[in-house]
Amino acid sequence: MKNILLIGGSYGIGASLAQILANDNQVVVASRTKPENVLDKVKYITFDASVDEINLDLLPETIDGFVYFPGSINLRPFKGLSLESFKQDFEINVLSLIKVLKAILPKLNASNNPSLVFLSTVAVAQGMPFHSSVATAKAAIEGLAKSLAAEYAPKMRINVIAPSIVDTPLANRFLNNETKIQKSAEKHPLNRVGNKDDIAEMISFLLSDKSSWMTGQILSVDGGLSTLITN
Ligand SMILES: NC(=O)c1ccc[n+]([C@@H]2O[C@H](COP(=O)([O-])OP(=O)(O)OC[C@H]3O[C@@H](n4cnc5c(N)ncnc54)[C@H](OP(=O)(O)O)[C@@H]3O)[C@@H](O)[C@H]2O)c1
Repeated sequence: MKNILLIGGSYGIGASLAQILANDNQVVVASRTKPENVLDKVKYITFDASVDEINLDLLPETIDGFVYFPGSINLRPFKGLSLESFKQDFEINVLSLIKVLKAILPKLNASNNPSLVFLSTVAVAQGMPFHSSVATAKAAIEGLAKSLAAEYAPKMRINVIAPSIVDTPLANRFLNNETKIQKSAEKHPLNRVGNKDDIAEMISFLLSDKSSWMTGQILSVDGGLSTLITN
């Protein structure tokens, strides 16, 4: 049984992942709120990655799996994006992740083969208008993941998932009516937007020993958007 720490997991992709993992792992979810329906086997702790230091006393001695979910989809024309806005996106996506990682490093080192998963976006591999801030922050995550994967091999594995749009609270304003959902679906060769389990199942695989020969990878889970042209 692995000890797995999810930063985020009260809703969105992280909540689906907590559900998938809960039966066979000890899962700790650290986020600002608890879900309405908490899972029996999951320990929930209150934590705001933007401001708090994580309380190590509430975590297990050994951490075998780690996923960081807080992120942003701040889409605006470049000329309308303030420097402050770039800083905020970088802070929550990158610096707050680094802060947690540094704090839990001894607990990760206490595990035999910890597996870490970070979240990027399709908009790093595939240039898209209005994505400059989030793409800048997520590109940093990809660089961080590859650097750390090299530095900590063979002990730790670190992989990244780069999704296209997934139906979660974060993406709600882009998917809050049928027309938007249909338009978004049509952009994807697989003709639909992502659902939470599309991403959560891949994260679960990356956390498990089934992926024990994979590290330093950026995995596109995006309905084919970043690599295929079908019309
Ligand atoms: N959804 C998409 O279309 C999409 C596409 C590409 C990439 N991604 C990336 O995938 C990741 C997860 O996306 P999602 O759609 O599942 O997001 P979401 O629906 O916004 O869920 C985010 C989770 O992180 C927690 N969280 C947010 N800010 C936090 C903070 N400051 N401290 C602690 N926890 C915090 C939230 O819980 P609390 O509010 O309770 O803290 C929630 O559990 C993000 O990094 C996002 O950039 C998503």
